[in-house]
Amino acid sequence: MFSKDGNTKDIKTPRIVDVVWHDGEFIDWKDAKVHVMSHVLHYGSSIFEGIRCYSTKQGPAVFRLREHMQRFLNSAKIYRMDHPWTLDELCTAAIEIVKRSGMDQCYVRPILFRSLDEEHPAFGVNPFPNPLACYIGAWDWGKYLGDEAIEQGVDVCVSTWNRLTPNSMPAMAKSGANYMNSQLIKMEALLNGFAEGIALDDRGYVSEGSGENIFLVTGDILLTPPLSSSILPGITRDSVIQICQELGITIKERTIQRAALYVADELFFSGTAAEITPIRSVDRITVGRGGRGPITEKIQKVFFEITKGERPAPGDWLTYVREQKPADNNGFTPGKIAKDDSDTAPILSFQTAAQD
Ligand SMILES: Cc1ncc(COP(=O)(O)O)c(C=O)c1O
Repeated sequence: MFSKDGNTKDIKTPRIVDVVWHDGEFIDWKDAKVHVMSHVLHYGSSIFEGIRCYSTKQGPAVFRLREHMQRFLNSAKIYRMDHPWTLDELCTAAIEIVKRSGMDQCYVRPILFRSLDEEHPAFGVNPFPNPLACYIGAWDWGKYLGDEAIEQGVDVCVSTWNRLTPNSMPAMAKSGANYMNSQLIKMEALLNGFAEGIALDDRGYVSEGSGENIFLVTGDILLTPPLSSSILPGITRDSVIQICQELGITIKERTIQRAALYVADELFFSGTAAEITPIRSVDRITVGRGGRGPITEKIQKVFFEITKGERPAPGDWLTYVREQKPADNNGFTPGKIAKDDSDTAPILSFQTAAQD
């Protein structure tokens, strides 16, 4: 599946939606272009989201749309991107592109970036003179870490690259530039024959994968690194936390040592693209029995039942596209976790800057 030179495309893209939402209008895919001298290409000035729309018996349903768009707004705020778009407008645009796609399931990619004003070009690092452009594209996307990964798990390594430090690049913003760090982690992993790399934070504690959050199972308890370990506040991570609360599984946010990965009973990644993917080995050390563990399987099963609309979610997690009714998320309560000792954060929210 994963070629050692990394050149083989590892995720299937069966179809791309032929329109793109651009600043309030739909344009053809082929017209969604930027100037090569755009600020974003030189200085990485973009923020984006990745959202999955699932096929359900009631038609396509976007998973946790408002939470994703709220994180998009948060990322824009952190980077002082003063755009005119509201949460409702962005949600409506995403629903509209899914409707226009005619697809039952797809991946939705909003992006906001610093562009180029061709009549008054500005080429310096200072981003303020450059206009902002907002686009939403969509495509059908396969399993991020391989088709078999969801059942069999993946072999991963600990990266020699550290995750970003909180005072250099904020990991809680989903900025394009952060993914230069992710690319270093991913390329190293692929070239060494692994599906993915796990980065440590600048203190040496476990942070996250290049595009996923991580969970450890030890006995009957789940552990996951806190936001202060330079992680993206994952929406799938929050979903796992809330699912665990419903299932009565204890979950704690903890700083985690690298060695704890090797002796965990189970490990798994969470993410929009990766969904819930078991990890069967780290640095060629077998995790537990070397496949998907029972607790991972239980959480995965509930997660997929929810995304298919076959089981009620802990909140309004699905926005059914055909009804055109965005989930009312005003009462959304981010997952709360058991308060542990000093190195845990009491609140897990992608909306807060809660740190331990
Ligand atoms: C670096 C990183 N961490 C974690 C995640 C998981 O976040 P989410 O569950 O919101 O997709 C992603 C995926 O977007 C990511 O790129």
